Amino acid sequence: MSVLVTGGTGYIGSHTCVDFIEKGQDIVILDNLCNSKIEVLDYIEQITGIRPKFYQCDLLDKEGMKKIFDENDIDTVIHFAGLKAVGESVAKPIEYYKNNITGTLNLIEEMRDHNCFKLVFSSSATVYGKPKSVPIKEDFPLSTTNPYGTTKLYIEQILKDLCVADDRFSVVLLRYFNPIGAHSSGLIGDNPNGIPNNLMPYVTRVAKGVLPHLNVFGNDYETADGTGVRDFIHVLDLAAGHYAALKALSNPGVSIYNLGTGNGVSVLDIINTFERVTGIKIPYQIAPRRPGDIAECFADASKAEFELGWKATRGLDEMCASAWNFESKHS
Ligand code: NAD
Ligand code: WQD
Repeated sequence: MSVLVTGGTGYIGSHTCVDFIEKGQDIVILDNLCNSKIEVLDYIEQITGIRPKFYQCDLLDKEGMKKIFDENDIDTVIHFAGLKAVGESVAKPIEYYKNNITGTLNLIEEMRDHNCFKLVFSSSATVYGKPKSVPIKEDFPLSTTNPYGTTKLYIEQILKDLCVADDRFSVVLLRYFNPIGAHSSGLIGDNPNGIPNNLMPYVTRVAKGVLPHLNVFGNDYETADGTGVRDFIHVLDLAAGHYAALKALSNPGVSIYNLGTGNGVSVLDIINTFERVTGIKIPYQIAPRRPGDIAECFADASKAEFELGWKATRGLDEMCASAWNFESKHS
């Protein structure tokens, strides 16, 4: 039996593929390469010694997806594929709703038609909107502030409705906090096109001299040092969370888990840690708050630990060092 990994050449998907292959799991990758490169397959092979079967296929291509299910014995899908840029989603809501929601509908329809009923979905802490308090638990109220987040919320609801209607389905919703870092080989990592939106890729490009300085978006939040606080988690810990989540797929219905460390870390903490572990100075300027940002967002990650036996183990030093190792080896 194989696991189909949609979005498997992307940032989190590629690390998860490596983790699954190293654990002996047979995988098949589907990706349309709209935000990743075909070379990632070479890198996965260099790291693991195994080249996974790959289909360049779009979630919107029903025939292409049918072929993948026809040609492989797939019993589980890990569904990463989707567009993820918050700002772009505000400018292009139609593209985001179509790609993420129609794409997921196509996928689950194909799964049902091929008797494949186990699904792990990449959700996001963004579905908690502006949380009433931290740490955030899975049963907190849900809301969103941008079309990207709304696609995650709608897909969660679609998958809940699916499980009510068809008790053969078992779905795990994983709400990721802020994945950063890279595999220790430096071969795979976060490599956004253009000017990065997220903090860590921006920091690594400042470190490389590609960007002149970092803008710190606000230092007047009600946090210890005034800058935003997030739950940064090493992407390899996040990857391992998917393997742990397979366990919950023996339960019928929907299970929901936060994947975070449970620790709040500020923007200045990131800068200071990055400078200490790499020895590279990060010039920064305090800039106005970024619209839509919240002061603090970190997980209560105890449910995943208790029910899945999963816990993040890698610290901030390793996150910063591995992110820089990746950036320094890539153009
Ligand atoms: P990524 O862009 O690196 O990977 C997504 C992959 O999906 C890319 O390789 C892209 O080519 C592919 N893809 C997109 N649309 C597709 C389509 N229609 N058909 C086939 N392939 C398609 O992103 P990532 O950071 O690895 O994120 C993976 C998932 O996790 C996404 O669903 C994202 O929304 C979610 N997520 C990411 C973060 C984060 O901070 N990176 C946080 C929370 C949730
Ligand atoms: C982190 C902190 C910024 C850039 C986003 C999405 C979320 C999820 C993860 C997918 C904040 C500050 C950032 C910069 C800065 N993705 N910052 N200067 O906003 O927590 O979450 O990615 O689901 O949906 O919204 O992550 O890395 O953008 O920001 O000061 O140049 O760094 O203000 O406090 P965020 P981020």
